[in-house]
Amino acid sequence: MLVNSKDLLLKAKASKYAIPHLNINNLEWAKYILQECNSLNVPVILGVSEGAAKYMGGFNTIALMVKGLITDLNIEIPVCLHVDHASSFETCKSAIDAGFTSVMIDASRQELSENIRITKEVVDYAHSKNVTVEAEVGHIGGTEDNITNTSTNATLEDCLSLYENTHIDSLAPALGSVHGFYKGEANLDFATMQKISDALPIPLVLHGGTGISDEKIAKAISCGISKININTELQSVWSKAVRSYLEENKDAIDPRKIIGSGEEALKARVEEIVTLFKTKI
Ligand code: 13P
Repeated sequence: MLVNSKDLLLKAKASKYAIPHLNINNLEWAKYILQECNSLNVPVILGVSEGAAKYMGGFNTIALMVKGLITDLNIEIPVCLHVDHASSFETCKSAIDAGFTSVMIDASRQELSENIRITKEVVDYAHSKNVTVEAEVGHIGGTEDNITNTSTNATLEDCLSLYENTHIDSLAPALGSVHGFYKGEANLDFATMQKISDALPIPLVLHGGTGISDEKIAKAISCGISKININTELQSVWSKAVRSYLEENKDAIDPRKIIGSGEEALKARVEEIVTLFKTKI
């Protein structure tokens, strides 16, 4: 069943677990993630970056593909289809019109007043269509979709101001996590995370989930994080398995076998992630 993220994340916040946001790149990843989460009976958020949307053909193709998989594979868990880091109102509107149930508007590189203006425009449209909205304050650095950015941490005041002026459904405050692999340990500001969580009635989102230690993931969840985004580590385990299949099968040409050689590794990592996040239905 395709749902927005509201109830999923509020329940997760109240019961102190996290919903996995897993980025997809193609039909196979969507299928593997849906099958694995369905067999573990946990909800999932399928994240689609602007780059991945372009790669797969566009938002309509993806929405129809995910709806088709849910029907054809008898997927019974709640599934949220979410745009990750949309950079404009127009992108969010296209995704919503195509059938996405959740969007992240990322205007975090703008001045706060402009971030608020764009986010509010998205919220007004999204809420009229029963679609949930995540926004970002501060700026999460690192590399995603081949774009590298520097980090700026969020402040409690800016988070409050963004929430009060927009009524977003969830917030990703930049507090030290980065996209891609960490150089050394992730340095998360748990004290500010806890203060933001206490001050706002909405769930918090942790981007850059790859490479954060199990202890820090548990601590982040205890400080109000209810959604954790994972992309790089799925790419890493899948490509490692495919690379070794190709090395062992030098004559392989069947794309289904080549892409599918990463299925087991991807599913095994998804199971580890939901176990770590203590995700529940
Ligand atoms: P990682 O690529 O570091 O796992 O981060 C994913 C993410 O935050 C997507 O928005």
